Amino acid sequence: MELDDSIQTIREYIKNKHSKDNSGHDYWHIERVVTNTQKILNYEKADRTKALLSAWLHDIGDYKLHNGTDRTKELIYPLLSSLEYPKSFIEDIIKIIKEVSYMGGYNTPPTSPEAKIVQDADRLDAIGAVGIARAFAYGGNKGRVLFDPNEMPTEYTEGTSYQKNTSCTINHFYEKLLKLKDLMNTDIAKKMAQERHSFMQKFLEEFYKETGYDN
Ligand code: ADP
Ligand code: NI
Repeated sequence: MELDDSIQTIREYIKNKHSKDNSGHDYWHIERVVTNTQKILNYEKADRTKALLSAWLHDIGDYKLHNGTDRTKELIYPLLSSLEYPKSFIEDIIKIIKEVSYMGGYNTPPTSPEAKIVQDADRLDAIGAVGIARAFAYGGNKGRVLFDPNEMPTEYTEGTSYQKNTSCTINHFYEKLLKLKDLMNTDIAKKMAQERHSFMQKFLEEFYKETGYDN
């Protein structure tokens, strides 16, 4: 089957699977990751079909969507088999997706160009204006406050986590979001991440100014 035809089918499948998501993995997150993947593909050598299909499917089996169980393999196998992709191709896609996840990728860098690209594309969607919006949406969903001055860093070094197990959303910037720019794999994503990072820093500066916690 042609890639475009597969993507039509996959899009409908994804729309259905991600429709009830409230963990930050809604359908539009998937579309944005695909768009980021397309941008990065303009600058990197990789298998375009594998990168794009992996981007479309990267969150489909995520444990957060399935009550704590990773279902990547069991969902992707039948789907891609029904679209007539061969076994070895499907195994490559599953490997790419496993390597993309933040936890795995944090300590173990991805091994294929496709996994590097999709991981960057996914991480780009966690930073910048979209990343800020997603963080507060996630925090709201968990019933967390935006900001708690008692959880302010006493001494802030960029990219370091300052308090563990705190519950305000602003803390998530320090435990994860401000670190992501240094974890990009590809040069173009590093450049895009830098812009989005600067925007987050400006946002935080303004937030502290408006709340009177800017020293
Ligand atoms: P991934 O997309 O890599 O699976 P997560 O599932 O950890 O990442 O997060 C999905 C979205 O929710 C991201 O935008 C992330 O920044 C946000 N998020 C995750 N944990 C928190 C948190 N503790 N506070 C605020 N936002 C969070
Ligand atoms: Ni994702």
